[in-house]
Amino acid sequence: MNEIKPGHRTWAEPYKIKSVELLKMTTREEREVAMREAGYNTFLTRSRDVYIDLLTDSGTSAMSDRQWAGLMLGDEAYSGSENFYHLEDVVREYYGYKHLVPTHQGRGAENLMSQILIKDGDYIPGNMYFTTTRLHQELAGGTFVDVIVDEAHDPDCDFPFKGNVDMGKLDALVQKVGADRVPYISLEGNVNMAGGQPFSMANLRELHTYCREHDILIMLDATRTMENAWFIREREEGYAHKSVRQILREICDLTDGCTMSAKKDALVNIGGFFTCNDDEIFKKAQNLVVVYEGLHTYGGLAGRDMEAMAQGIREAATEEHQAARIGQVRYLGENLQRAGIPIVKPIGSHAVFIDAREFLPHIDQDDYPAQALAAELFIESGIRTMERGNVSAGRDPETGKNRRPPLELVRLTIPRRVYTQAHMDVITQAVVDVYARRDQIRGLKMVYEPEYLRFFQARFEPIT
Ligand code: F0G
Repeated sequence: MNEIKPGHRTWAEPYKIKSVELLKMTTREEREVAMREAGYNTFLTRSRDVYIDLLTDSGTSAMSDRQWAGLMLGDEAYSGSENFYHLEDVVREYYGYKHLVPTHQGRGAENLMSQILIKDGDYIPGNMYFTTTRLHQELAGGTFVDVIVDEAHDPDCDFPFKGNVDMGKLDALVQKVGADRVPYISLEGNVNMAGGQPFSMANLRELHTYCREHDILIMLDATRTMENAWFIREREEGYAHKSVRQILREICDLTDGCTMSAKKDALVNIGGFFTCNDDEIFKKAQNLVVVYEGLHTYGGLAGRDMEAMAQGIREAATEEHQAARIGQVRYLGENLQRAGIPIVKPIGSHAVFIDAREFLPHIDQDDYPAQALAAELFIESGIRTMERGNVSAGRDPETGKNRRPPLELVRLTIPRRVYTQAHMDVITQAVVDVYARRDQIRGLKMVYEPEYLRFFQARFEPIT
């Protein structure tokens, strides 16, 4: 429960509920069948079999009445839709970049950016990998190099800015391969794979100075950067009195462009964009988008989608929204911590990450403990979560072996504005029940492995 004391108000949802979607509870037997049929991969389950859906915070937000009203303002023209110009104004106002190219979602923007900026044999440093981001870098002929601070790889370390770039690691790469082989650094706000961990403004300033000296661009993955701004406001000296909006702008002003999955921060069910300040890069992106997405004024989106996105950006870049958003995730995380469940510290913004290595120490990483735990939690409770460990990390292209990343996690991802505090309590109870019988949980063997982003479609069987 949130602390009650005189003269103090805790966060509450800054909205009231106008429309609801009914949930369905299944039986354990039904869930066992569903999980077997899904090859023990939560990505392959059907949502009709799910009770509480914590698979992702991507495209799962509840839109506001104003966003829904915006759908009716959709100007569904092939070219020059009014909604594009509205979105362009809002992106310029909130993010501050000069040029906007809409895309159907984040990876569409990653594809454009990677093809434009990366040459064969280049190196792309980043503050930890993200699955689709790294794949697009590799498909464009680049090699991703992790330059995040060491603290990020330790689930137990409660360093407040685990998303920071380790300037020593970055400089070592630049010294080794030469700055001309490093077209840009890929900088993610609230690093997803590290547990939703922010970078600090001080770190970004240092990075900015370094990159200007070495003529390296800073390309932001802005997907959850408003949430990163909230953490800067909370944790970094000198920012307590600045608004999320001001901090977001300050971040963007220190970078050269971004890719964005609007399905997260921007509170829409579909959408994304690429932005930049450079006129030449923009021309290339504007040209390439017609190959993969659609004309440069819609990029794979309907006019109504762009309208909902413009409104979503306005609603998300507020203190009230972020306090409730992050407050709810923290509420769940603290519940779990009190119950003795090992989770990644500090609690991130978009999800609580269970440390599956600690939870299931008897399962070897090549028997996929996090995958097994996600399957078990579904069978126990109908709660759908996601593996973020050895399956997601994939194979090393050189050795062909599993990457065995230091973080072997199950992500309990909280959709924005969708579930209540009572749901958070039920989730905690389910995890505690699985924890009580953790020694009976067995590992999994992979029986089907697709070539790209295997975690989405791989199939498993329990090890007997
Ligand atoms: N960057 C980050 C940090 C992401 O979390 C995602 C998606 C993307 C890029 C790609 O965007 O899905 O719109 O193409 N993350 C989702 C997740 C899939 O569940 O974490 P997309």
